[in-house]
Amino acid sequence: MWELLAFLLFTLAYFLWPKPKCISAKYPKSLPSLPLVGSLPFLPRGGHQHVNFFKLQEKYGPIYSLRMGTKTTVMVGHHQLAKEVLVKKGKEFSGRPQVENFSSDSITSLLDVLIQARMNSGNNNAASDRDAKLLSDKHILTTIGDIFGAGVETTTSVVKWTVAFLLHNPQLQKKIQEEIDQNVGFGRTPNMSDRNQLIWLEATIREVLRIRPVAPTLIPHKAIVDSSIGEFAIDKGTSVIINLWALHHNEKEWHRPDQFMPERFLDPTKSQLISPSLSYLPFGAGPRSCLGEILARQELFLFMAWLLQRFDLEVPDDGQMPSLEGNPKLVFLIEPFKVKIKVRQAWREAQAESST
Ligand SMILES: *[C@@H]1O[C@H](CO)[C@@H](O)[C@H](O)[C@H]1NC(C)=O
Ligand SMILES: *[C@@H]1O[C@H](CO)[C@@H](O)[C@H](O)[C@H]1NC(C)=O
Repeated sequence: MWELLAFLLFTLAYFLWPKPKCISAKYPKSLPSLPLVGSLPFLPRGGHQHVNFFKLQEKYGPIYSLRMGTKTTVMVGHHQLAKEVLVKKGKEFSGRPQVENFSSDSITSLLDVLIQARMNSGNNNAASDRDAKLLSDKHILTTIGDIFGAGVETTTSVVKWTVAFLLHNPQLQKKIQEEIDQNVGFGRTPNMSDRNQLIWLEATIREVLRIRPVAPTLIPHKAIVDSSIGEFAIDKGTSVIINLWALHHNEKEWHRPDQFMPERFLDPTKSQLISPSLSYLPFGAGPRSCLGEILARQELFLFMAWLLQRFDLEVPDDGQMPSLEGNPKLVFLIEPFKVKIKVRQAWREAQAESST
């Protein structure tokens, strides 16, 4: 009886155990995994996922794999490998992992409405078959996900992070305001031509995008053909996640990466913007990079310049500082915080003068 049970268990384990792949190909080092649950029991709990995945690099190296159920996911945490995935082999890794099925009787979001609309048109009209194919559920989900993830929430999120870091660094705020006063003054609104002069503001925005990237793990990719990353084989269908957090916090690339230091984007004489490291991809790269990058950078610059020209950002009266911990949702959001916004004395005086 017991022998039979043991035999059955053994057989079951044999068939369910993840199989080693083709011996000759070299695959990224893998986290341990169990049947059915994959690597889940071996993932650190608590804290932010992107930080946990970064810490796992100490043991597994800059590229490693883990299993989610029966699916393999490869984590990439080095800029050279990341660029291989995003740029050099962008097409080979242009897939998106499968999106979940949704329930058609719960129209709760714009997504659902759109998909429902497509379903209805498909039911009522045979001629729309072609459109229905063009607008597959997956395509809609992916596209809308991209639009929402990329456009609406991101810029405001970066503005909030920037304000929070300025509250923590009042000297920096002063420096940026002096720069605005000297180069723009109070007689006009800052415009794009000022971007080359307001280097402390530009460096600050770059540093915010480094230390708190909008999408710390970017949007997942999937190999649509058998491919490779570095020296490692990657099978078709493998999900690939670029851990931007790892790139932006690599100690070999960034001096004290956990410190907020906009000056790292300035030359030693603090008179010029520089690109201190290649390990910096705040908007991703390659064919799937952020289409709104240029617009987003312009918006951020103009909004912050306009804000700091007219207002002082201060810690509220209760003395509560914003937490810089963050909350990784679709976008890496900062927790809501209070800020006291006062019209600048210098701005007020200048306005009074010009109106007399
Ligand atoms: C998702 O929906 C498709 C078509 O309605 C169906 O064939 C498939 O089994 C569903 N998958 C899951 C995981 O529910
Ligand atoms: C910005 O303002 C300055 C001063 O008014 C002006 O000379 C310059 O052409 C403006 N640049 C843009 C891009 O509007």
